[in-house]
Amino acid sequence: MTSKRIYVARLLTERAMDTLRGSDWDLDVGDEAPPSRDQLLSKVRGTDAAVVTLTERIDAQFFDAAGPCLKVVANVAVGYDNIDVEEADRRGVTVTNTPGVLDDATADHTFALILDLARRVTEADRFVRSQTPWVWGPRMLVGLDISGGARLGIVGLGRIGRAVARRAKAFSMDVVAYDPHGVPGDFQDDVSMLPLHEVLATSDVVSLHVPLLPSTHHLMNAETLAKMKPDAYLVNVARGGVVDESALIQALRTGALRGAAIDTFEGEPQVNPELLGLDNVVLTPHIASAGDRTRDRMCLLALENVERVLSGQAPVTPVAPRVLA
Ligand code: GLV
Repeated sequence: MTSKRIYVARLLTERAMDTLRGSDWDLDVGDEAPPSRDQLLSKVRGTDAAVVTLTERIDAQFFDAAGPCLKVVANVAVGYDNIDVEEADRRGVTVTNTPGVLDDATADHTFALILDLARRVTEADRFVRSQTPWVWGPRMLVGLDISGGARLGIVGLGRIGRAVARRAKAFSMDVVAYDPHGVPGDFQDDVSMLPLHEVLATSDVVSLHVPLLPSTHHLMNAETLAKMKPDAYLVNVARGGVVDESALIQALRTGALRGAAIDTFEGEPQVNPELLGLDNVVLTPHIASAGDRTRDRMCLLALENVERVLSGQAPVTPVAPRVLA
């Protein structure tokens, strides 16, 4: 029997690479950097499975290039807005993602950003490095007290949103949430569900945890940003497209918003140069899930999904096209 042909678009973690090397698959593994579009389309030709990441656009052209053998596309990410799932469905190709294994790492990073913004860690670091003379003083670099009552508004109370809520509760924060599937007035996991406008208008920190869908594209825009308190912070570890970046920059510039922490960008990996010039932002390069064990788990789950589909079993974490409402 001939081996199954697998294209792995990016170098995975060392543990996952060991697993791959131990398999009997006929492997073609890419580099640390993403493949060019032409490389992607040529490498996937005639394969049975593709392991991809959020940097690869998987669409009709990709499936045309792959041909009829392709059975499964395994995304090494929980978000799958890079994949045309309906097109995959039409072609009978299974799509999988990596939910569940990255909730804690993503929530940890979210909390790092919340604390950084509130207690001005990055700003203070820049200040010390500037070698500006300083002496301790009661008014120096005073930030927002997070413990003991600051309100955190979570937009999207899925697995990651809930993991953020648990951390916030440990800091005695007052936690409220909006979820498109939640019922305002309801109470879930010790969190009060509110309409979006109330979450925005009353929270000291708003943290975004919704997937990028047509319905969440630019969920935070000039109008919704204007509903936030001028002394509030926005944290985005979801997807860049959830926030209208130009409207955010305007709000940060004019003092309509106190600050923002951004892990995901609209034009990723390009970062709007106007953001780089702002002092009231903390920027990280889409690393919210970048914990060592977490990245292993994500890669290994993607490989398990491939293994199962190619051996005729149901994948562990298939993506359902109907969630793309
Ligand atoms: C990372 O952004 C992911 O979706 O897993």
